[in-house]
Amino acid sequence: MSTRDSWVSNVGFVLASIGSAAGLGNIWRFPWLTAGNGGSAFLFVYSLIVVGVGVPGLLAEFVLGRRGRQTPIGTFRSLIASRWGSALGTFNVITALVILSFYSVVGGWILRYMLASPTGAYFGQPQQFFGTISYGLQAVVFHLLFLGVVAAIVFFGVSRGIERASKVMLPAVVLFLSGLAVWTATQPNTAAGYAFYLSFDADYLVANFSSVLGPAAGQALFTLSLGTGAMLTYASYLDEDVSLPRNTLVIAFSNMFIGVLAGLVVIPLLFSQGIDPGHGGPGALFVSLAPAFASLPGGTVVATAFFATVLMAAVTSGINLLETLVATLIDCFDVPRRRATLLVSLLLAVTGSGLALVGPIFEFVSGTLADLLLTVGLFAFVAIVGWLLRAAALAEFRAGTDRFAVLAEPWLLTVSWVLPVVVLFMLTNTLVSLAGVSLGAAGRAVVAVVATVGCRLAVAARTDG
Ligand code: PFF
Repeated sequence: MSTRDSWVSNVGFVLASIGSAAGLGNIWRFPWLTAGNGGSAFLFVYSLIVVGVGVPGLLAEFVLGRRGRQTPIGTFRSLIASRWGSALGTFNVITALVILSFYSVVGGWILRYMLASPTGAYFGQPQQFFGTISYGLQAVVFHLLFLGVVAAIVFFGVSRGIERASKVMLPAVVLFLSGLAVWTATQPNTAAGYAFYLSFDADYLVANFSSVLGPAAGQALFTLSLGTGAMLTYASYLDEDVSLPRNTLVIAFSNMFIGVLAGLVVIPLLFSQGIDPGHGGPGALFVSLAPAFASLPGGTVVATAFFATVLMAAVTSGINLLETLVATLIDCFDVPRRRATLLVSLLLAVTGSGLALVGPIFEFVSGTLADLLLTVGLFAFVAIVGWLLRAAALAEFRAGTDRFAVLAEPWLLTVSWVLPVVVLFMLTNTLVSLAGVSLGAAGRAVVAVVATVGCRLAVAARTDG
């Protein structure tokens, strides 16, 4: 087997991981979720979940990846000596394929908007423009172009492709977003937007806590790229001498910072036009931002910069997903990287085109199916770390760490008990809404706790643990 690729430096790994986290989730999903769920109230709950659940969850994926030193299939084969290992790894690979298929379609939309921005082609009739490009032949073509860009980076490997691209694109995203946030602050009528976004409304939070919880948790996990094995794959290229807890904190907080920055651009801009940003749906950002760009001075330039930023953010997330798939072919079947990139890209060209052609399937896949796959994947990860590996996971946590070592035990406790309950709560949310059953937040919480205890006992019975 050929020698495995690796990061040139820890900084490269950190930037690539922030790049994976900060993507469409931050810029496309986060602002309208925030706007639709009470602004600052959502931001508050989301931040708590990122810290309490996202950070330990991300650490669990990193621990698995660095311990296993392979993509998900190889990692789980070696870490849990049972046929369930290959099955779980295969499930992760399918998840990455599904996520990248729809992600690449949205990436195509962004590319289309970026190219249409210099002339303001969509300014006049935003709804109609989105309707024309979102599904159908145009969507297929731009999905393929987006995929081509992502594939071109992965083609060159971890250090020469992914690491180099991330080192350029991520700083560019932060710089552009900062510039856009400053520009937004100079626009008229934005005060109401800032007030809504940043002032804390405790009454709203108390009244709506249970309805804010689900979207906030979903967003926290999606934005940290958890549950597909993509972060696991990035960590598999990492040396033992770097601190996983420190890296995780840097990555999670940088990602949160980028999300908040995106909100500082999008939410005040929408308010400045008197647009109620609370309506979600895939087209929300595109359709509602157009009038803001159209009516402000320099709108075409700003719109172009905005969509270029979103595009770069989407590319640095896409490469993480594609790398997971490509590296699986390399690790498990010894396929050379370039051929593997070509093969996987051809497959994605087909699956993504299918979604780009059929809107209702796209919405199901990017919503319910993605939620289901990611939560099941993450549940398996935390169960393996918290219930099976335990001592090995603690050792991996501590490797390369000095002052964070004291956090190892509290982390494992969180991964063993808090995370499974939260993840199963989210899974119950998705299943309940899929089945059309009405079950309140308290009922769903009870289901989550009972299911966690049940699974824990079942695992203990099989492993004498
Ligand atoms: N974190 C990315 C975003 O917020 O856009 C999405 C993502 C990337 C999810 C990679 C999962 C993944 F493996």
